[in-house]
Amino acid sequence: MADSITIRRPDDWHVHLRDGDVLKGVLPYTARQFARAIVMPNLSPPISTVAAGAAYRDRIMAALPAGMDFTPLMVAYLTDGIDPEELARGHAQGVFTAAKLYPAHATTGSAHGVTDVAHIRPALERMALIGMPLLVHGEVTDHDVDVFDREAVFIARILAPLVRDLPDLKVVFEHITTEEAVRFVLGCGPNVAATITPQHLHINRNAMLVGGIRPHAYCLPVAKREKHRLALRTAATSGNAKFFLGTDTAPHARHLKEAACGCAGIFNAPYALESYLQVFDEEGAIERFEAFASLNGPAFYGLPVNKATITLERSEVCVPEVLHANDTAIVPFHAGEVLTWRFAG
Ligand code: DOR
Ligand code: ZN
Repeated sequence: MADSITIRRPDDWHVHLRDGDVLKGVLPYTARQFARAIVMPNLSPPISTVAAGAAYRDRIMAALPAGMDFTPLMVAYLTDGIDPEELARGHAQGVFTAAKLYPAHATTGSAHGVTDVAHIRPALERMALIGMPLLVHGEVTDHDVDVFDREAVFIARILAPLVRDLPDLKVVFEHITTEEAVRFVLGCGPNVAATITPQHLHINRNAMLVGGIRPHAYCLPVAKREKHRLALRTAATSGNAKFFLGTDTAPHARHLKEAACGCAGIFNAPYALESYLQVFDEEGAIERFEAFASLNGPAFYGLPVNKATITLERSEVCVPEVLHANDTAIVPFHAGEVLTWRFAG
């Protein structure tokens, strides 16, 4: 039984770094473990222009503590009727690595999102042409669709037709939560991949609802039944290049989650690698962890793998009940639990 593992430095292909003081507080957690991160653009106002993307990147670099080696990869927020020229210019200038589809009102910060994919068709056609990946929050928002079914319905109504009509478009189906999503991604060509979060590998919907309502286990897409969690664990640990690491770390102040209408999002950045590796260990797949964490993502995005390495050691780690991100109290994923691997740097 391996007691330590050394792999190429990983990247996080889906993070929310926020802005201002909270950015300063949460960024070191991600930069400590990951060389690069795909940074979500759901700020207020959203990052929809090249100028806004470049300015946000500058703010992230300014917030990075001296001596930390970290590269933010910026993402354009797609709005109805967004100008394909703006996306192409941002991509050509190296500001935008990808563009994100938030269905309007699907989640936090999605009020300016897309009301109908027909409204971004010219943008998607241009992205397919220039090889700019589309990142998808895959949930429908129809009031008559149950929240636990929203991902599966999105696949049938929106994503499958989109992938069929634009076969050259690179698509990352973000934070998948269902066996339907695993099956869909496996059935597509190599231009369609998916990220998987630590929480969807660890918890099912009981974690949110049994023995009291647990706001810190609530994120969107919401955790589903156990059979879906098991399908995600099989996919993540399979070694298949279509699946890679994307934490969806989404910090919210504790009082905004422990509220009558609590925000969606789980702050998993502080112990992300420990959390993922524990899953690979439990599944007897430690030797496939490097592919998921450090190789499959760069291969999909057409980027080089990182040269540096990191090491994790088998050792108990107690996760604090609360962390302070520049004076904001935030409850981390696994709060109060003991994890079985320690990030050694
Ligand atoms: O749980 C979530 N939180 N899901 C999202 O899609 C957005 C995120 C956030 O920004 O807080
Ligand atoms: Zn997200």
